[in-house]
Amino acid sequence: MSNFGDLQSLASSITAVTSPFRNYLTDLYEKYRKLNDGAVADYIPELALAKPEWFGICVVTKDGQVFEVGDCDKLFTIQSISKAFVFGLALEDHGREYVNSKVSVEPTGEAFNAIVLDEATNRPYNPMVNAGAIATADLIEGENGTERLKRLLEMFKRYTGREHDINVPVFLSEKATGFRNRAMAYLMRNFGMISDKIDETLDLYFQQCSILVNAKDLAMLAATLANGGVNPVTGERAIDERYVQDVISVMLTCGMYDASGEWCYRVGMPAKSGVGGGITAVVPGKLGIGTFSPLLDAKGNSVRGIKVCQDLSQDFGLHLFNVAKSERDLQQWIAGGNGINDW
Ligand code: DON
Repeated sequence: MSNFGDLQSLASSITAVTSPFRNYLTDLYEKYRKLNDGAVADYIPELALAKPEWFGICVVTKDGQVFEVGDCDKLFTIQSISKAFVFGLALEDHGREYVNSKVSVEPTGEAFNAIVLDEATNRPYNPMVNAGAIATADLIEGENGTERLKRLLEMFKRYTGREHDINVPVFLSEKATGFRNRAMAYLMRNFGMISDKIDETLDLYFQQCSILVNAKDLAMLAATLANGGVNPVTGERAIDERYVQDVISVMLTCGMYDASGEWCYRVGMPAKSGVGGGITAVVPGKLGIGTFSPLLDAKGNSVRGIKVCQDLSQDFGLHLFNVAKSERDLQQWIAGGNGINDW
């Protein structure tokens, strides 16, 4: 980074600490901190260890300003949020048409672990449900499982700007208990939708779900997509610009599973959730949001995370289809320190 870049990021971090936007986020954190609806995932013992009180909110703007409140450094497993980004890498490896021949882009309206394929084409419905995510993982290039995992970890590093590890006990538990995912893989192999590397690909899928991230990473992942595929802090390109729209389109239509319609209606941001308690939400051309709270609703989405994104969307007119407010400039609000009532 140049000296100018260093100064810029210093100026950004000062803004982030003193900005009224940070005060707004603190109020939001306080508003939902006591909300105890939902339950932590317990399908494997490691996830059941999550504490209901863990809660973090992070926003990263397109120009690299970082606003953090609560448990933004606490590590948890990325789980299904990985699916959106692995889809992006599969597109880079094979291009749009080939990937689409193996996995469709239609919402299912069904649970994330439904064992269902498109009857006409035998394709899984989309890359965000488990079947589609396994078919997508199958497309990741590499000599062997280790190389393929290395490529995934390098990709996540480009997005977040830092190294990532796997939570090995979570990976081993997912692998030991993932019979349903195994059944989907064999069903797709039967229809020629995935290759013969079934065990290697399932391991890769379980490993991608077990990558450790924090709320700040989730905001950075989203901000990178919001910024056309370039990490706004490091300046590194994480994904070919051509495929950013593919990833965020599918996040909008399928990222919150069978709650995607409701999410689009109320929040209006491409997003992806995971059973670890994370949500990553993209406001294209503006910012990325990362939330972490492990209390999940019946559909596997973080209860507090949904509330936070809903409030941010309403209070700042961030809904993708909010035509009335689309001309307003959030960056100016953040930098200029105008009051929340100005919005
Ligand atoms: O495949 C599974 O069951 C998990 N490892 C991932 C599930 C997940 O995060 C679904 N999301 N809400």
